[in-house]
Amino acid sequence: MAPKKNVIVKKSKPATKSPAPTKGAVKTEKKPATKTAPAPLVSENELLMQSLRGMRDILPDEQPYWERVRRSLSSAAQEYGFNRIDTPTVEYLHLFIRSIKEGTDIIDKEIYSFQTRGGDRVALRPEFTAGIGRAYIQHGMSVLPKPIRLFSMGPVFRYDRPQEGRYRELWQGDFEVFGEADPILDAQVIQVAYRVVRELGLKDIEFQVNSIGTPESRKRYEKALVRFLESQKHKLCQQCRERLVTNPMRILDCKEDKCVQLTSQAPQALDFLDDESRAHFKSLLEYLDELELPYSINPRLVRGLDYYTRTVFEIWSTDREGKKYALGGGGRYDNLIQDLGGEPTPAIGFGLGLDRIVLEMKRTQVRPYEFPKPRVFLAQLGDLAKKKSLRMFAELEKHGVLASESFGRGSLKAQMRVASRIGVEVTIILGQKEAIDGTAIVKDMVSGTQETVTQERLVDAVKKILKTNASLSHPTPKFDQ
Ligand code: HAM
Repeated sequence: MAPKKNVIVKKSKPATKSPAPTKGAVKTEKKPATKTAPAPLVSENELLMQSLRGMRDILPDEQPYWERVRRSLSSAAQEYGFNRIDTPTVEYLHLFIRSIKEGTDIIDKEIYSFQTRGGDRVALRPEFTAGIGRAYIQHGMSVLPKPIRLFSMGPVFRYDRPQEGRYRELWQGDFEVFGEADPILDAQVIQVAYRVVRELGLKDIEFQVNSIGTPESRKRYEKALVRFLESQKHKLCQQCRERLVTNPMRILDCKEDKCVQLTSQAPQALDFLDDESRAHFKSLLEYLDELELPYSINPRLVRGLDYYTRTVFEIWSTDREGKKYALGGGGRYDNLIQDLGGEPTPAIGFGLGLDRIVLEMKRTQVRPYEFPKPRVFLAQLGDLAKKKSLRMFAELEKHGVLASESFGRGSLKAQMRVASRIGVEVTIILGQKEAIDGTAIVKDMVSGTQETVTQERLVDAVKKILKTNASLSHPTPKFDQ
């Protein structure tokens, strides 16, 4: 189909009244509309040619890194008994407000929400926990033997300011455990996170842990924190002054120097824990010591979602310049299931930021996954051979022989060039004569020899050469007698 012509590009010109947009022209978010300068109009065609800001294509070149991550997550999930669950990307907005809560950046600033044509207020999921919690209740999973371990992986959406390592569509790997309050589960969940990053070959990883106690002890702590910060409000950044009213705990997470300086002298959540939470945290630390995991206690760690109780943790990496990146985070959320309308169910989990993990793999030159390479090439010449080669390809695939082809090319020379570029060990040539005879030429690309075999014997003949080549490249080891 011929591309549509650019419809219009309207350069902004100071105007008192916004002109009606021409058909096919849409407003971009590049500049917010003001009364005096309307947002520039960009042609529909121009917008069709680019992904949205903060959202990107993960191209084939990058897939070997992602494949290694996906495989590592899936094998960790399997080893530790997590069953895969996939929940919808879109949920009722209310689900996220109920769980993550207003006053958090995710709900106040970052959630992608909209009204459907049917009038429902919905949102693109900004994380997995709320949706998995909803599914746990909806499908009556509480009757299953506990603990119930669930794992998911996929994109989530946050309308944040994009930069390297911060996207609006980002991928997470997510692990959740329902129905067990024992701190040994907290340690095991941290162990799973460690298993994934270690297996991926990431170094300079640090686990930070903290406990924020129960909602009651947290309230007591919040009060003390507000009292302390109120007295020195002038030293806080503008946003933290607002947070002092909306969500004071978030101030501990602010990266502004002056706020960091002030909060380093603030009271610490650990000093306000109730006895049970303190004992819970102490046991967790003992388990982590036993596991010899590289962790440190960060008394300022509070996390950006409001459902957490007791244990919270984050996984950080540090680059050569000392810049730190959060690769993942999680914690206990013992009240969430009940808050969402389910039975009281203690729970704990974590999410890994897969985009950041891939960046970290590249930065530290971790080897990506190597997709298996085809060892056989199928070349064809003439109409009948072309027709037969489709079936032959399927036959090879059925017998576990990974083959490649270049069906679109007519000349044998061009096809052989592709074969040698791929570096295959065997080339099958199906010419007009062979197609009529029911035979094929099998060429050993290593030794250069070739033979004609019947099509029934083809797979065996190919396999024989591949086997010989494999034993040549990996000779049977000789042992001293
Ligand atoms: P979170 O800390 O909000 O936790 O996100 C987990 C990870 O997602 C972060 O550590 C980071 O690596 C990555 N991430 C977050 N925002 C972005 C972004 N804009 N661009 C790229 N990566 C990002 C949660 O989402 C919780 N649901 C984790 C959890 C599971 N807690 C209990 N269970």
